[in-house]
Amino acid sequence: MDSRPVYQLADGATRPRRLRTTPALRRLVSENRLHAADLILPMFVKESLTRPAPLTSMPGVLQHTLDSLLAAAREAVAAGVGGLMLFGIPEVRDEQGSQADAPDGILNRALRLLRDELGESTVIMADLCLDEFTSHGHCGVLADDGSVDNDATLDRYAAMAVAQAEAGAHILGLSGMMDGQVAAVRHALDATGHHDVVVLAYAAKFASAFYGPFREAVDSQLVGDRRTYQQDAANGREALRELELDVAEGADIVMVKPGMPYLDVLADAAAASPVPIWAYQISGEYAMIEFAAQAGAIDREPAILESLIGFKRAGADAVLTYWATEVAQLLNGRDAERS
Ligand code: PBG
Repeated sequence: MDSRPVYQLADGATRPRRLRTTPALRRLVSENRLHAADLILPMFVKESLTRPAPLTSMPGVLQHTLDSLLAAAREAVAAGVGGLMLFGIPEVRDEQGSQADAPDGILNRALRLLRDELGESTVIMADLCLDEFTSHGHCGVLADDGSVDNDATLDRYAAMAVAQAEAGAHILGLSGMMDGQVAAVRHALDATGHHDVVVLAYAAKFASAFYGPFREAVDSQLVGDRRTYQQDAANGREALRELELDVAEGADIVMVKPGMPYLDVLADAAAASPVPIWAYQISGEYAMIEFAAQAGAIDREPAILESLIGFKRAGADAVLTYWATEVAQLLNGRDAERS
């Protein structure tokens, strides 16, 4: 017979609520935390604006002039955000997206300005994609039959990568979902001596209805959709294949996007990834919380914080969010209250 004593649990002795008794205890046993440094602020800069323009579909988000961009960037950096992701909206668009790699294109001018003014005090990133620059609004150039031409697009991305690196970007955010884009960009960067420029691959980017407000933010010209290059919402396993390819091609960081509807993909990708993994809380996710709060349906601030800790719990190392500055300031305030 087994002579070990049997410790019978008294009825009700297992009480998980015990660890939830006080705010201090909850803080102590918290499994995940938000830090300002984990938050990356996406920003829009539009050519020939004379003053910043608010976006109706994203309350609180602006299309910036170069001046207001710099001011907002300084504010974000002072709040301690981890970095800035820039999107440019050119005055003139064409089939090839020529302004994307023009040294004086709006995005490259903005990068140069921020790098000159902010130096190494933050991490400056650029969206590397053609959709803001093409007259048809697709992420690549078109073949004669109107389809998006993968390999011709890679040449454009390579040129864009060199222009952005030369303008001072620390990290390039490859969001176009063309096959082979990481290898093409890495090769172009190395061939021009930009060995230290980091490649962030939007490894698993899904064709999503939640990009809606972003289309207003970049004055998108797109008719139709991106389903021949962005992933289908039904496919999780395919995201891991994309991730594996991007890492093999030299991605330094990978990303899953959108965020909230794809937390399972994020968790699987985080478990599989040998490199840092980020998430993008996209425009539609932002808009849902802002408008639900405006309607009095939810409490805005706790909803924002809950949405962000969800990304951390799912395994994201950092999150792109339009609330980055506000949340960083909030977190700083809380730390100050306690000390
Ligand atoms: C492509 C790009 C998009 C977003 C970021 N990069 C739009 C798209 O793929 O349609 C969306 C970001 C957001 O919705 O907040 N340049």
